[in-house]
Amino acid sequence: MGNNSTHPTAIVRIQRFNPETDAKPHMQEFEVELKPGTTVLDALHEIKTHQDGSLTFRRSCRHAICGSCAMHVNGKNELVCNAPLKERLDRHGRITIRPLPYLPILKDLVVDRSSFWEQYLRVKPWLTPPEDAPEKEFRMSPEEVAALNNAETCIMCGACYSSCQIVGLTKEYIGPHALLKAFLRVMDPRDSIPGERLADLDGTDGVYRCRTIFNCIDACPKNLNPTLAIETLRKLAQKREAFEQARIERQKHLDEPIPAR
Ligand code: F3S
Repeated sequence: MGNNSTHPTAIVRIQRFNPETDAKPHMQEFEVELKPGTTVLDALHEIKTHQDGSLTFRRSCRHAICGSCAMHVNGKNELVCNAPLKERLDRHGRITIRPLPYLPILKDLVVDRSSFWEQYLRVKPWLTPPEDAPEKEFRMSPEEVAALNNAETCIMCGACYSSCQIVGLTKEYIGPHALLKAFLRVMDPRDSIPGERLADLDGTDGVYRCRTIFNCIDACPKNLNPTLAIETLRKLAQKREAFEQARIERQKHLDEPIPAR
């Protein structure tokens, strides 16, 4: 690009791969202006719009809520829409962007997330309410809400899944994203199949496959804790029948006001 601008510039190194023409991925460098407030996603848009229209990446909302733009930036998974470009530059003014690890590359920064979604569906991520659900509303206590540990705020970006080395070894592993969703359903007093869920997670590809590597916590852009969720599921799986009986008792009172404290 011409450099008559008053703005400093950044070197953006991007892993490129076109399955129709390339035998393997390679790195390509671009130079972009470093304007105030520029995010890593802005830099990718700038390159695609003005320098190379063939650059391929996923993005949607630009507000860290759709989960589309997770990528591997300087060796760490993150949402590029939420990453200030200036803060990601090394002392030579460079940033390196690769697609999410451990997943097949479709083109450039776009990966095939099939295994991610297959494992997600495997845990039956939907709520299964009791047959005699309250007519008006389910009541949850503040303690029950707190026990969910914000798991409901997961945006399914895949950053945790593709940072886990067990996923790198086997796509049979359910993975931190789906186990976090399973945790959310198991802990939810409105769900009526916690015992069945815990039994499903008890196999060799479930909660016992996790090796407590913690990468999933580091990668999560929402500061969630899949490792703790998996540990909780492990403990509950060991007392599954008692937990299920307690849930049955709890559901008899789902429509009652929570007593004031
Ligand atoms: Fe993987 Fe997280 Fe367990 S990185 S091994 S799911 S603690």
